[in-house]
Amino acid sequence: MLKVNQTIKLEPQSLIYNRSYESTIFNIADTTFTIKMPYDNGKLVLLSVGTMLKVTIEENQTSFISEVLGRTFSPEPSLTLALPVNLLDKKTQKSTKFISITSGKGGVGKTSFTINLGITLSQMGYRTFIIDADLGTANVDVLLNLQPKYNLKHILNREKDILDIIIDGPGGIHLIPGGSGLQNLADLDEWQFNRLINSFQVLEKYADVILIDTGAGLSKNVINFILASDEVIVVTTPEPHAITDAYAIIKVMDERDTTLNPKLILNRVESPEEAKKISEKMIKVTDHFLSLKLESLGYILEDSNVLRAIKKLRPFVLTDPLCPAAQCVKNISQRLIKPDANYEFEVRKNFFHRVKELFNR
Ligand SMILES: Nc1ncnc2c1ncn2[C@@H]1O[C@H](COP(=O)(O)OP(=O)(O)O)[C@@H](O)[C@H]1O
Ligand SMILES: [Mg+2]
Repeated sequence: MLKVNQTIKLEPQSLIYNRSYESTIFNIADTTFTIKMPYDNGKLVLLSVGTMLKVTIEENQTSFISEVLGRTFSPEPSLTLALPVNLLDKKTQKSTKFISITSGKGGVGKTSFTINLGITLSQMGYRTFIIDADLGTANVDVLLNLQPKYNLKHILNREKDILDIIIDGPGGIHLIPGGSGLQNLADLDEWQFNRLINSFQVLEKYADVILIDTGAGLSKNVINFILASDEVIVVTTPEPHAITDAYAIIKVMDERDTTLNPKLILNRVESPEEAKKISEKMIKVTDHFLSLKLESLGYILEDSNVLRAIKKLRPFVLTDPLCPAAQCVKNISQRLIKPDANYEFEVRKNFFHRVKELFNR
């Protein structure tokens, strides 16, 4: 779609440069493209790095949201912009696995599960990142006893790059802190959401697995995150209202015509039998009423070691690796990633491509 010498229109999201500017494409690389720095009334339009902008290709009037990644004046004034992900060359797409972990209701053990799953995957040799995208009540850092200086708020405010905010956690995991008191993921506008997505894209270079703790609920952004992931794990407890809320999320996914089949985790069960009974019932109801397929990924037993570990601000797979909950998480991680299949995930279309597609619906 993009070609060298093509004329494009730029609409920056900038207080100073708030008009529409014309430019031409110099060069197209793997993940970026370079354009002539536009002029406005004979003066260069000095867009700074980090500026988000809408790019429209004049020829066929298609547009996408991009970001200024670099600015240079020699050999001539030019700007380097991010290529939209749907235009990325297939071979540059990394087989990073994005796994959203979500729930209908809060307090079902999503964050605790995410952290312990992350550490288990990391122990299995996968470079694992956790993104704390539960923007309203981000607390992964607290539970890991970390004091991050920067978080996603600094990305949204354009003060930091994603690589600056990564903080290393216990057990080999890397955390992208969410920052509490941040506005809800639900409230981000399209520009802000794209800014987050663009920054997450950078992580594909470094990560095998990226776990996204999405927070609970049904907002558009949470659903878009979920639908764009390679896997979605829905966590519920056996409580009837947690099940009803989990089912509501699955229903919304189904309404969005996804080809993604959510995976179910039953947390805080008294026995494997209880987990089996509830999972089978939920799967049966889903089969009957919806077109997507719910799959069971396993269960986590009710275990007092979980709360004990939380009080110590240490993940239970590290403090009590043999406790029932830790054993359950290990079983889940094995099921999630089959080691004998040589990390053979079915890699769907690129995560970011999908997010953008979803937004365009
Ligand atoms: N398997 C478990 N056994 C016992 N308690 C658990 C278990 N999983 C979670 N909990 C309890 O549930 C609480 C909420 O967990 P959390 O991960 O913060 O939920 P969420 O992120 O879904 O809001 C934890 O503080 C812990 O006490
Ligand atoms: Mg949580």
